Amino acid sequence: MKIQSARGTRDFYPEDMAFRQWLVERWREASRRAGFVEVDGPELESLELYTDKSGPEIAEQLYWLEDKSGRKLALRPEFTPTLARMIAARQAALPEPIRWFNVSRCFRYERAQKGRLREFFQWNIDLVGVEGEIGDAECISIAVDALKNVGLTPADVQVKVNDRRLLGALVRHLGIAEERVPQVFAILDKRAKVPPEALAVMLAEAGLESAQREGLERILAWQGLGDIEARELATSEIHAAVEALNRLFAHLEHYGIAEWCRFDIGIVRGLAYYTGPVWEVHDLKGEFRAIFGGGRYDRLLGDMGGKAMPACGFGCGDVVLGLLLEERGLRPAAEPAADCFVLREKPDWPEMLKAVRFLRGMGLRTQFDLKEGRLKRQHEKALESGARFKVILGEAPWPRARIIDSRAAADGAMKERVADLAPDDPEALKNLKVFLGVGAS
Ligand code: HAM
Repeated sequence: MKIQSARGTRDFYPEDMAFRQWLVERWREASRRAGFVEVDGPELESLELYTDKSGPEIAEQLYWLEDKSGRKLALRPEFTPTLARMIAARQAALPEPIRWFNVSRCFRYERAQKGRLREFFQWNIDLVGVEGEIGDAECISIAVDALKNVGLTPADVQVKVNDRRLLGALVRHLGIAEERVPQVFAILDKRAKVPPEALAVMLAEAGLESAQREGLERILAWQGLGDIEARELATSEIHAAVEALNRLFAHLEHYGIAEWCRFDIGIVRGLAYYTGPVWEVHDLKGEFRAIFGGGRYDRLLGDMGGKAMPACGFGCGDVVLGLLLEERGLRPAAEPAADCFVLREKPDWPEMLKAVRFLRGMGLRTQFDLKEGRLKRQHEKALESGARFKVILGEAPWPRARIIDSRAAADGAMKERVADLAPDDPEALKNLKVFLGVGAS
Protein backbone atom coordinates (compact mmCIF):
# COMPACT_ATOMS: atom_id res chain seq x y z
CA MET A 1 0.00 0.00 0.00
CA LYS A 2 1.40 3.38 -1.01
CA ILE A 3 0.98 6.06 1.63
CA GLN A 4 0.61 9.56 0.24
CA SER A 5 2.08 12.63 1.88
CA ALA A 6 -0.44 14.60 3.97
CA ARG A 7 -2.54 17.09 2.00
CA GLY A 8 -1.01 20.55 1.84
CA THR A 9 2.52 19.34 2.69
CA ARG A 10 5.48 19.11 0.34
CA ASP A 11 8.41 16.78 -0.22
CA PHE A 12 11.60 18.66 -0.97
CA TYR A 13 13.56 16.75 -3.61
CA PRO A 14 17.08 18.10 -4.22
CA GLU A 15 16.06 20.84 -6.69
CA ASP A 16 13.19 21.97 -4.40
CA MET A 17 15.50 21.95 -1.40
CA ALA A 18 18.09 23.95 -3.34
CA PHE A 19 15.45 26.57 -4.15
CA ARG A 20 14.21 26.69 -0.56
CA GLN A 21 17.75 27.19 0.71
CA TRP A 22 18.45 29.85 -1.90
CA LEU A 23 15.32 31.75 -0.85
CA VAL A 24 16.04 31.44 2.86
CA GLU A 25 19.57 32.72 2.19
CA ARG A 26 18.16 35.80 0.41
CA TRP A 27 15.86 36.40 3.43
CA ARG A 28 18.79 36.03 5.81
CA GLU A 29 20.92 38.43 3.76
CA ALA A 30 18.22 41.12 3.84
CA SER A 31 17.74 40.60 7.61
CA ARG A 32 21.45 40.80 8.38
CA ARG A 33 21.98 43.83 6.15
CA ALA A 34 19.63 45.70 8.49
CA GLY A 35 21.45 44.40 11.57
CA PHE A 36 18.84 41.83 12.69
CA VAL A 37 19.79 38.61 14.50
CA GLU A 38 18.20 35.19 14.08
CA VAL A 39 16.13 33.53 16.79
CA ASP A 40 13.87 30.49 16.96
CA GLY A 41 11.37 28.87 19.28
CA PRO A 42 9.56 25.53 19.44
CA GLU A 43 7.27 24.22 16.73
CA LEU A 44 4.91 23.04 19.47
CA GLU A 45 3.35 25.68 21.71
CA SER A 46 0.49 25.78 24.21
CA LEU A 47 -2.80 25.92 22.34
CA GLU A 48 -3.98 28.96 24.30
CA LEU A 49 -1.08 31.04 22.97
CA TYR A 50 -2.99 31.19 19.67
CA THR A 51 -6.60 30.89 20.75
CA ASP A 52 -6.10 34.00 22.90
CA LYS A 53 -3.80 36.15 20.81
CA SER A 54 -4.05 35.47 17.09
CA GLY A 55 -7.78 35.89 16.56
CA PRO A 56 -10.58 33.63 15.32
CA GLU A 57 -9.26 33.01 11.80
CA ILE A 58 -6.00 31.45 13.00
CA ALA A 59 -7.79 29.63 15.84
CA GLU A 60 -9.96 27.86 13.26
CA GLN A 61 -6.87 26.80 11.33
CA LEU A 62 -4.89 25.28 14.19
CA TYR A 63 -3.42 21.83 14.16
CA TRP A 64 -3.55 20.78 17.76
CA LEU A 65 -3.22 17.71 19.94
CA GLU A 66 -3.43 16.56 23.48
CA ASP A 67 -0.20 15.04 24.73
CA LYS A 68 0.06 12.03 27.03
CA SER A 69 -0.35 14.18 30.11
CA GLY A 70 -3.43 15.90 28.73
CA ARG A 71 -1.73 19.21 27.76
CA LYS A 72 -3.27 20.91 24.77
CA LEU A 73 -0.54 21.82 22.30
CA ALA A 74 -0.60 23.37 18.83
CA LEU A 75 1.78 23.28 15.89
CA ARG A 76 2.76 26.88 15.36
CA PRO A 77 0.69 28.63 12.69
CA GLU A 78 2.86 31.78 12.92
CA PHE A 79 5.85 33.04 14.89
CA THR A 80 4.63 36.32 16.41
CA PRO A 81 3.01 34.90 19.60
CA THR A 82 6.18 32.84 20.27
CA LEU A 83 8.29 35.96 19.81
CA ALA A 84 6.08 37.92 22.21
CA ARG A 85 6.26 35.08 24.74
CA MET A 86 10.06 34.89 24.43
CA ILE A 87 10.47 38.65 24.87
CA ALA A 88 8.03 38.83 27.80
CA ALA A 89 10.09 36.13 29.57
CA ARG A 90 13.40 38.05 29.35
CA GLN A 91 12.24 41.62 28.83
CA ALA A 92 14.48 43.26 31.42
CA ALA A 93 17.63 41.65 30.05
CA LEU A 94 17.13 42.36 26.36
CA PRO A 95 18.75 45.51 24.95
CA GLU A 96 16.30 47.72 23.09
CA PRO A 97 15.35 47.96 20.37
CA ILE A 98 15.07 44.24 19.75
CA ARG A 99 15.85 43.41 16.13
CA TRP A 100 15.01 39.75 15.58
CA PHE A 101 14.43 37.62 12.54
CA ASN A 102 13.26 34.08 12.22
CA VAL A 103 12.62 31.45 9.58
CA SER A 104 10.06 28.96 10.81
CA ARG A 105 8.12 25.97 9.58
CA CYS A 106 4.46 26.81 10.17
CA PHE A 107 1.23 24.83 9.99
CA ARG A 108 -2.28 26.03 9.21
CA TYR A 109 -5.28 23.93 8.39
CA GLU A 110 -6.20 26.04 5.34
CA ARG A 111 -8.40 25.18 2.42
CA ALA A 112 -5.91 23.99 -0.24
CA GLN A 113 -5.58 26.76 -2.84
CA LYS A 114 -2.97 28.37 -5.05
CA GLY A 115 -0.27 29.86 -2.84
CA ARG A 116 -1.67 28.51 0.44
CA LEU A 117 -0.60 25.19 1.90
CA ARG A 118 -0.96 23.52 5.26
CA GLU A 119 2.76 23.44 5.93
CA PHE A 120 4.99 26.30 4.78
CA PHE A 121 8.07 28.28 5.70
CA GLN A 122 7.74 31.80 6.93
CA TRP A 123 10.36 34.51 7.31
CA ASN A 124 9.66 37.00 10.10
CA ILE A 125 11.20 40.36 10.86
CA ASP A 126 10.24 41.96 14.16
CA LEU A 127 11.35 45.25 15.62
CA VAL A 128 10.38 45.71 19.26
CA GLY A 129 10.81 48.88 21.30
CA VAL A 130 10.42 51.42 18.50
CA GLU A 131 7.54 53.81 18.58
CA GLY A 132 6.37 55.78 15.60
CA GLU A 133 6.36 55.31 11.85
CA ILE A 134 10.14 55.00 11.54
CA GLY A 135 9.83 51.43 12.90
CA ASP A 136 7.18 50.50 10.35
CA ALA A 137 9.22 52.11 7.56
CA GLU A 138 12.34 50.17 8.65
CA CYS A 139 10.39 46.88 8.42
CA ILE A 140 8.94 47.74 5.00
CA SER A 141 12.40 48.70 3.75
CA ILE A 142 13.74 45.25 4.75
CA ALA A 143 10.85 43.57 2.93
CA VAL A 144 11.63 45.61 -0.20
CA ASP A 145 15.33 44.76 0.12
CA ALA A 146 14.40 41.05 0.08
CA LEU A 147 12.13 41.55 -2.93
CA LYS A 148 15.00 43.22 -4.81
CA ASN A 149 17.32 40.48 -3.62
CA VAL A 150 15.25 37.82 -5.42
CA GLY A 151 15.10 39.88 -8.62
CA LEU A 152 11.61 41.42 -8.36
CA THR A 153 10.85 45.05 -9.27
CA PRO A 154 8.02 47.54 -8.63
CA ALA A 155 6.62 46.35 -11.96
CA ASP A 156 6.02 42.92 -10.36
CA VAL A 157 4.93 43.67 -6.80
CA GLN A 158 3.66 46.43 -4.60
CA VAL A 159 3.54 47.11 -0.87
CA LYS A 160 -0.02 48.16 0.00
CA VAL A 161 -0.11 50.21 3.17
CA ASN A 162 -2.97 51.22 5.44
CA ASP A 163 -3.46 52.04 9.11
CA ARG A 164 -6.02 50.32 11.30
CA ARG A 165 -6.36 53.53 13.31
CA LEU A 166 -7.57 55.31 10.16
CA LEU A 167 -9.97 52.58 9.15
CA GLY A 168 -11.20 52.20 12.74
CA ALA A 169 -11.83 55.93 13.09
CA LEU A 170 -13.65 56.02 9.74
CA VAL A 171 -15.79 53.02 10.68
CA ARG A 172 -16.70 54.66 14.00
CA HIS A 173 -17.40 57.92 12.20
CA LEU A 174 -20.02 56.02 10.18
CA GLY A 175 -21.77 55.40 13.49
CA ILE A 176 -20.65 51.79 13.87
CA ALA A 177 -20.16 50.93 17.54
CA GLU A 178 -16.62 50.38 18.87
CA GLU A 179 -17.34 46.78 19.90
CA ARG A 180 -18.36 45.93 16.31
CA VAL A 181 -15.08 47.20 14.81
CA PRO A 182 -13.08 43.93 15.15
CA GLN A 183 -15.91 42.02 13.47
CA VAL A 184 -16.11 44.59 10.65
CA PHE A 185 -12.31 44.34 10.20
CA ALA A 186 -12.52 40.54 10.01
CA ILE A 187 -15.22 40.81 7.33
CA LEU A 188 -13.32 43.47 5.35
CA ASP A 189 -10.21 41.27 5.41
CA LYS A 190 -12.21 38.71 3.38
CA ARG A 191 -12.99 41.31 0.70
CA ALA A 192 -10.54 39.94 -1.88
CA LYS A 193 -11.70 36.38 -1.21
CA VAL A 194 -15.51 36.63 -1.42
CA PRO A 195 -17.88 38.21 -4.00
CA PRO A 196 -19.22 41.73 -3.16
CA GLU A 197 -22.79 40.42 -2.62
CA ALA A 198 -21.58 37.91 -0.03
CA LEU A 199 -19.61 40.67 1.70
CA ALA A 200 -22.69 42.90 1.83
CA VAL A 201 -24.66 40.06 3.42
CA MET A 202 -21.94 39.52 6.03
CA LEU A 203 -21.89 43.23 6.88
CA ALA A 204 -25.68 43.32 7.14
CA GLU A 205 -25.59 40.28 9.42
CA ALA A 206 -23.03 42.12 11.55
CA GLY A 207 -25.72 44.75 12.12
CA LEU A 208 -24.61 47.48 9.68
CA GLU A 209 -27.41 49.59 8.29
CA SER A 210 -27.57 50.23 4.58
CA ALA A 211 -26.28 53.83 4.91
CA GLN A 212 -23.32 52.49 6.89
CA ARG A 213 -22.64 49.83 4.26
CA GLU A 214 -22.79 52.45 1.49
CA GLY A 215 -20.46 54.72 3.47
CA LEU A 216 -18.02 51.85 3.83
CA GLU A 217 -18.19 51.11 0.11
CA ARG A 218 -17.44 54.74 -0.73
CA ILE A 219 -14.44 54.76 1.61
CA LEU A 220 -13.13 51.48 0.19
CA ALA A 221 -13.24 52.99 -3.32
CA TRP A 222 -10.57 55.56 -2.40
CA GLN A 223 -7.50 55.34 -4.56
CA GLY A 224 -5.20 57.50 -2.47
CA LEU A 225 -4.91 59.51 0.72
CA GLY A 226 -5.81 62.56 -1.38
CA ASP A 227 -9.29 61.09 -1.91
CA ILE A 228 -10.20 61.60 1.72
CA GLU A 229 -12.89 64.23 1.65
CA ALA A 230 -13.12 67.11 4.08
CA ARG A 231 -16.29 65.74 5.69
CA GLU A 232 -14.45 62.53 6.52
CA LEU A 233 -11.62 64.44 8.13
CA ALA A 234 -14.13 65.69 10.65
CA THR A 235 -12.60 64.06 13.72
CA SER A 236 -9.20 64.67 15.25
CA GLU A 237 -8.69 60.88 15.33
CA ILE A 238 -9.00 60.68 11.54
CA HIS A 239 -6.75 63.70 11.14
CA ALA A 240 -4.09 62.13 13.36
CA ALA A 241 -4.25 58.81 11.49
CA VAL A 242 -3.85 60.54 8.11
CA GLU A 243 -0.89 62.51 9.43
CA ALA A 244 0.72 59.30 10.72
CA LEU A 245 0.34 57.73 7.28
CA ASN A 246 1.83 60.82 5.65
CA ARG A 247 4.84 60.56 7.98
CA LEU A 248 5.20 56.88 7.12
CA PHE A 249 5.14 57.61 3.37
CA ALA A 250 7.70 60.40 3.85
CA HIS A 251 10.07 57.87 5.50
CA LEU A 252 9.50 55.39 2.67
CA GLU A 253 10.43 58.14 0.21
CA HIS A 254 13.69 58.75 2.09
CA TYR A 255 14.46 55.03 2.10
CA GLY A 256 14.24 55.36 -1.70
CA ILE A 257 11.39 52.86 -1.98
CA ALA A 258 8.37 55.12 -2.60
CA GLU A 259 7.78 53.57 -6.02
CA TRP A 260 7.31 50.15 -4.36
CA CYS A 261 4.64 51.38 -1.95
CA ARG A 262 1.16 52.82 -2.10
CA PHE A 263 -1.74 53.57 0.20
CA ASP A 264 -4.60 51.07 0.08
CA ILE A 265 -7.55 51.62 2.37
CA GLY A 266 -8.63 48.00 1.76
CA ILE A 267 -5.71 46.44 3.65
CA VAL A 268 -7.00 45.31 7.05
CA ARG A 269 -5.09 42.07 7.89
CA GLY A 270 -6.75 39.01 9.34
CA LEU A 271 -4.83 38.77 12.63
CA ALA A 272 -6.40 40.32 15.68
CA TYR A 273 -3.34 41.88 17.32
CA TYR A 274 -2.54 44.74 14.90
CA THR A 275 -3.01 48.23 16.30
CA GLY A 276 -1.59 50.70 13.75
CA PRO A 277 -0.05 50.64 10.28
CA VAL A 278 -0.77 47.39 8.42
CA TRP A 279 0.59 46.37 5.05
CA GLU A 280 0.80 43.53 2.58
CA VAL A 281 2.87 42.83 -0.51
CA HIS A 282 0.83 41.74 -3.53
CA ASP A 283 1.77 40.90 -7.10
CA LEU A 284 0.73 43.70 -9.39
CA LYS A 285 -1.38 41.49 -11.63
CA GLY A 286 -3.37 40.36 -8.60
CA GLU A 287 -2.92 36.68 -9.50
CA PHE A 288 -1.74 35.48 -6.12
CA ARG A 289 -2.59 35.77 -2.44
CA ALA A 290 -0.50 38.13 -0.29
CA ILE A 291 3.25 37.51 -0.38
CA PHE A 292 4.04 39.46 2.82
CA GLY A 293 1.84 40.65 5.63
CA GLY A 294 2.80 42.79 8.57
CA GLY A 295 2.04 45.68 10.81
CA ARG A 296 2.27 47.25 14.22
CA TYR A 297 1.13 45.37 17.31
CA ASP A 298 1.77 47.64 20.28
CA ARG A 299 -0.40 45.73 22.76
CA LEU A 300 0.70 42.12 22.28
CA LEU A 301 3.67 42.23 24.68
CA GLY A 302 1.52 43.68 27.45
CA ASP A 303 -1.25 41.16 26.74
CA MET A 304 1.34 38.40 27.06
CA GLY A 305 2.00 39.39 30.65
CA GLY A 306 5.07 41.47 29.87
CA LYS A 307 5.68 45.19 30.04
CA ALA A 308 3.84 46.94 27.20
CA MET A 309 6.27 47.67 24.37
CA PRO A 310 5.73 49.08 20.90
CA ALA A 311 6.37 46.47 18.21
CA CYS A 312 6.07 45.96 14.49
CA GLY A 313 7.08 43.35 11.96
CA PHE A 314 6.04 41.11 9.12
CA GLY A 315 5.89 37.57 7.83
CA CYS A 316 6.62 36.31 4.32
CA GLY A 317 5.93 32.76 3.17
CA ASP A 318 7.90 30.68 0.69
CA VAL A 319 4.89 29.42 -1.28
CA VAL A 320 3.50 32.45 -3.11
CA LEU A 321 6.95 33.93 -3.53
CA GLY A 322 8.11 30.66 -5.10
CA LEU A 323 5.15 30.62 -7.50
CA LEU A 324 5.73 34.24 -8.50
CA LEU A 325 9.46 33.74 -9.09
CA GLU A 326 8.71 30.63 -11.14
CA GLU A 327 6.19 32.53 -13.24
CA ARG A 328 8.58 35.43 -13.82
CA GLY A 329 11.44 33.06 -14.77
CA LEU A 330 13.41 34.22 -11.73
CA ARG A 331 13.72 30.87 -10.03
CA PRO A 332 17.45 30.02 -10.23
CA ALA A 333 18.66 26.65 -11.51
CA ALA A 334 20.09 24.39 -8.81
CA GLU A 335 23.87 24.56 -8.43
CA PRO A 336 25.78 21.33 -9.21
CA ALA A 337 26.67 19.33 -6.11
CA ALA A 338 30.36 18.92 -7.04
CA ASP A 339 33.24 21.15 -8.11
CA CYS A 340 35.57 18.31 -9.11
CA PHE A 341 35.13 14.82 -10.49
CA VAL A 342 38.13 12.48 -10.23
CA LEU A 343 38.60 9.89 -13.02
CA ARG A 344 41.21 7.21 -13.69
CA GLU A 345 41.70 4.98 -16.70
CA LYS A 346 42.19 1.93 -14.52
CA PRO A 347 40.59 2.47 -11.17
CA ASP A 348 43.24 2.34 -8.51
CA TRP A 349 41.63 3.08 -5.18
CA PRO A 350 44.75 4.21 -3.26
CA GLU A 351 45.57 6.86 -5.88
CA MET A 352 41.94 7.84 -6.45
CA LEU A 353 41.33 8.29 -2.76
CA LYS A 354 44.56 10.22 -2.23
CA ALA A 355 43.40 12.64 -4.95
CA VAL A 356 39.90 12.83 -3.45
CA ARG A 357 41.32 13.53 0.03
CA PHE A 358 43.60 16.24 -1.32
CA LEU A 359 40.84 18.01 -3.26
CA ARG A 360 38.28 17.76 -0.43
CA GLY A 361 40.99 18.97 1.95
CA MET A 362 41.23 22.13 -0.15
CA GLY A 363 37.50 22.62 0.36
CA LEU A 364 36.48 21.48 -3.12
CA ARG A 365 33.30 19.44 -3.34
CA THR A 366 34.60 16.26 -4.95
CA GLN A 367 32.90 13.21 -6.43
CA PHE A 368 34.17 10.12 -8.26
CA ASP A 369 32.61 7.01 -9.75
CA LEU A 370 32.01 4.65 -6.85
CA LYS A 371 31.19 1.78 -9.19
CA GLU A 372 34.60 1.37 -10.90
CA GLY A 373 33.10 2.09 -14.32
CA ARG A 374 35.16 2.21 -17.52
CA LEU A 375 36.73 5.54 -18.40
CA LYS A 376 33.96 6.40 -20.92
CA ARG A 377 31.33 5.79 -18.25
CA GLN A 378 33.32 7.87 -15.79
CA HIS A 379 33.34 10.77 -18.28
CA GLU A 380 29.55 10.45 -18.57
CA LYS A 381 29.22 10.50 -14.78
CA ALA A 382 31.50 13.54 -14.60
CA LEU A 383 29.27 15.34 -17.11
CA GLU A 384 26.11 14.34 -15.23
CA SER A 385 27.55 15.64 -11.97
CA GLY A 386 27.86 19.12 -13.44
CA ALA A 387 31.30 19.40 -11.81
CA ARG A 388 33.37 22.16 -13.30
CA PHE A 389 36.71 20.31 -13.11
CA LYS A 390 37.59 16.84 -14.36
CA VAL A 391 40.71 15.60 -12.60
CA ILE A 392 42.10 12.71 -14.67
CA LEU A 393 44.68 10.39 -13.13
CA GLY A 394 46.84 7.64 -14.55
CA GLU A 395 47.96 9.18 -17.85
CA ALA A 396 51.27 10.05 -16.18
CA PRO A 397 52.55 8.55 -12.93
CA TRP A 398 51.06 9.79 -9.63
CA PRO A 399 50.87 12.57 -8.47
CA ARG A 400 50.50 14.01 -11.94
CA ALA A 401 46.95 14.76 -13.10
CA ARG A 402 45.35 16.33 -16.13
CA ILE A 403 42.73 18.88 -15.05
CA ILE A 404 40.07 20.07 -17.47
CA ASP A 405 38.02 23.15 -16.72
CA SER A 406 34.69 22.38 -18.39
CA ARG A 407 33.23 25.79 -17.71
CA ALA A 408 36.02 27.37 -19.74
CA ALA A 409 35.27 24.81 -22.47
CA ALA A 410 31.64 25.86 -22.50
CA ASP A 411 32.78 29.45 -22.93
CA GLY A 412 34.71 28.34 -25.99
CA ALA A 413 38.09 28.70 -24.31
CA MET A 414 39.09 25.19 -23.31
CA LYS A 415 41.36 25.36 -20.31
CA GLU A 416 43.47 22.43 -19.38
CA ARG A 417 46.46 21.99 -17.17
CA VAL A 418 48.79 19.18 -16.16
CA ALA A 419 49.79 19.51 -12.53
CA ASP A 420 50.98 17.51 -9.56
CA LEU A 421 48.38 16.96 -6.85
CA ALA A 422 49.44 17.68 -3.28
CA PRO A 423 52.68 19.44 -4.31
CA ASP A 424 55.25 20.30 -1.63
CA ASP A 425 56.34 23.36 -3.55
CA PRO A 426 54.32 26.37 -2.24
CA GLU A 427 54.51 28.13 -5.63
CA ALA A 428 53.08 25.07 -7.45
CA LEU A 429 50.33 24.74 -4.80
CA LYS A 430 49.45 28.42 -5.20
CA ASN A 431 49.21 28.05 -9.01
CA LEU A 432 47.04 24.97 -8.67
CA LYS A 433 44.72 26.79 -6.25
CA VAL A 434 44.41 29.71 -8.66
CA PHE A 435 43.51 27.32 -11.51
CA LEU A 436 40.91 25.52 -9.35
CA GLY A 437 39.50 28.81 -8.09
CA VAL A 438 40.19 27.90 -4.45
CA GLY A 439 39.89 30.92 -2.21
CA ALA A 440 38.34 32.98 -5.01
CA SER A 441 35.00 34.51 -4.13
P1 HAM B 1 0.08 36.33 7.89
O1 HAM B 1 -0.46 37.36 6.98
O2 HAM B 1 -0.86 35.39 8.50
O3 HAM B 1 0.91 37.11 9.03
O4 HAM B 1 1.18 35.53 7.11
C1 HAM B 1 2.27 36.20 6.51
C2 HAM B 1 2.65 35.50 5.22
O5 HAM B 1 2.87 34.11 5.47
C3 HAM B 1 1.58 35.52 4.13
O6 HAM B 1 1.61 36.73 3.42
C4 HAM B 1 2.00 34.34 3.29
O7 HAM B 1 3.12 34.66 2.46
C5 HAM B 1 2.49 33.35 4.33
N1 HAM B 1 1.42 32.40 4.65
C6 HAM B 1 0.46 32.52 5.57
N2 HAM B 1 -0.36 31.44 5.56
C7 HAM B 1 0.12 30.61 4.61
C8 HAM B 1 -0.24 29.33 4.10
N3 HAM B 1 -1.27 28.64 4.60
N4 HAM B 1 0.47 28.80 3.09
C9 HAM B 1 1.53 29.46 2.59
N5 HAM B 1 1.95 30.66 3.02
C10 HAM B 1 1.26 31.23 4.01
C11 HAM B 1 1.52 36.50 10.07
O8 HAM B 1 1.69 35.32 10.16
C12 HAM B 1 2.10 37.47 11.08
N6 HAM B 1 2.52 36.70 12.25
C13 HAM B 1 3.22 38.26 10.46
C14 HAM B 1 3.88 39.22 11.41
C15 HAM B 1 5.10 39.12 11.98
N7 HAM B 1 3.31 40.34 11.85
C16 HAM B 1 4.16 40.93 12.67
N8 HAM B 1 5.26 40.18 12.76
